[in-house]
Amino acid sequence: MIFRQLFDSVSGTYTYLLASRRGGEALIIDPVIEKVQRYLQLVNELDLKLVKAVDTHLHADHITGLGALRDHTHCITVMGEMSKADVVSMRLSDGDKLTIEGVALEAIYTPGHTDDSYSFLMDDRVFTGDTLLIRGTGRTDFQNGDARAQYDSIFNRLLKLPDDTLVYPAHDYKGETVSTIGEEKAFNPRLQVKSIDDYVALMNNLNLPNPKMMDVAEKALARMGVPLGQIHSERFDLV
Ligand SMILES: [Fe+2]
Repeated sequence: MIFRQLFDSVSGTYTYLLASRRGGEALIIDPVIEKVQRYLQLVNELDLKLVKAVDTHLHADHITGLGALRDHTHCITVMGEMSKADVVSMRLSDGDKLTIEGVALEAIYTPGHTDDSYSFLMDDRVFTGDTLLIRGTGRTDFQNGDARAQYDSIFNRLLKLPDDTLVYPAHDYKGETVSTIGEEKAFNPRLQVKSIDDYVALMNNLNLPNPKMMDVAEKALARMGVPLGQIHSERFDLV
């Protein structure tokens, strides 16, 4: 099994490269456009064939590398069916299997951070996008976010997974790389609430600053990595 967690320090994004063996098919999750050459180099060095590129949701803090990877490798670009991105060649529904040679991921629809957020379960680990972060949760105050939906996604879907399931998020801003469902249940401060209403109140009172250039970035993102001129979006945290 080849499993690589790659980091984009500008946006604090984790990208994951998966393959069952050297020389086999590979899949990438949440690639960042500025890092595409690095991904391609690694794919080449490991003698892999990139066949699928997936975004967990439409990202507002960076431009996806899906479009550029597709142009370079002819890989299939994948998102959930709720995505409004206009150039996705495969759309998954809740429960669908995403497979490459020797690797199978199950799509779990986990709206809340955005209405197009999906998590992907693979054996002992789950890629949670910005739904469940390490000791945090993705903000719900833009991109059709919904704290009530996020509570349901986290408490009734992700936290139902076995406690020792590894949690690999799409972002971290403190240098954490991995957690477990059990650890997050016990120690994630956002999850120590008594009811859905408590969670909604907590999320609605975070008073996070609105990222600049959001409209421009979102339009570019929806076009799968085709930037609209020069985008100078400032880094902002999603928690
Ligand atoms: Fe996000």
